Amino acid sequence: MRKIQRNWRLPVGQTATDLDRRILKLQNEGHLVPCRELIKTPEQIEGIRRAGRLNTAVLDHVAERICVGMPTTEIDRMVYDYTTSHGGRPAPLGYEGFPKSVCTSINEVVCHGIPSDDEVLEEGDIVNVDCTTILDGYYADASRMFVIGKTTAEKEKLVRVARECLELGAAEARPWGYLGRIGRAIQRHAHKNHCSVVRDLCGHGVGLAFHEDPEVDHYDTHEEGMLLVPGMVFTIEPMINAGTWKVFVDEEDGWTVVTEDERPSAQWEHTFAVTEDGLEILSR
Ligand code: MF3
Ligand code: CO
Ligand code: CO
Repeated sequence: MRKIQRNWRLPVGQTATDLDRRILKLQNEGHLVPCRELIKTPEQIEGIRRAGRLNTAVLDHVAERICVGMPTTEIDRMVYDYTTSHGGRPAPLGYEGFPKSVCTSINEVVCHGIPSDDEVLEEGDIVNVDCTTILDGYYADASRMFVIGKTTAEKEKLVRVARECLELGAAEARPWGYLGRIGRAIQRHAHKNHCSVVRDLCGHGVGLAFHEDPEVDHYDTHEEGMLLVPGMVFTIEPMINAGTWKVFVDEEDGWTVVTEDERPSAQWEHTFAVTEDGLEILSR
């Protein structure tokens, strides 16, 4: 774990703006505030918006083609070809040694599934396709669930509840609100539906790098968490399980995250920007 600096400081030799005064006051009152570096400029947001548009288009491209009988390496090839032919680069490729351009996570796989020729989509599978695109140095990150043919009522419901968890979490995020409300709303909805929330993985700041501060927990930490300030960009990406929230990482490949009870898991992810008056979806 890297030690993160979460203090607002005045840049040396500059006078405080209204924004500085407002944040410094909240910080002095004991609230956790973002550091200045987490506030993107309008130019940076525009760059992330463009990366987000391409990332959404990549997922649309996959959505139109994904089907039963498709090996997950075919999804990987589609993501690589579409992204690069539109001037982008898939962020997962080579990221901390990740070998492919996209994560494909089927059924009991929670996230970070590695596309493989041996893995062919079957009738009834639920699969998460998680794409992150780099365009002109800016990053955007989103994932969707796809139901292959007809699935069980349990998996169908899980996919729906996970989607609702993302929407309800996002509805709690607002400028000058607190990050902790997101996870609280997600957990409440998951539990109401007899599902659990993965705790070992979180959403994250994004935009100038793949993973930035803050960490966005999807469960109730019973803390207000960080103040949300216009210009912050982060993902919400709840992983919702049918059974236990506990997960483990496949020892063979060091990536694939699987539910401990091998019951199914579902996840949806958007990239958001905090604006003056709400939230903007930068990639879905
Ligand atoms: N896209 C994932 C996320 O939502 C991260 C994948 S890391 C990779 O944060 F290396 F597996 F691609
Ligand atoms: Co992602
Ligand atoms: Co993410």
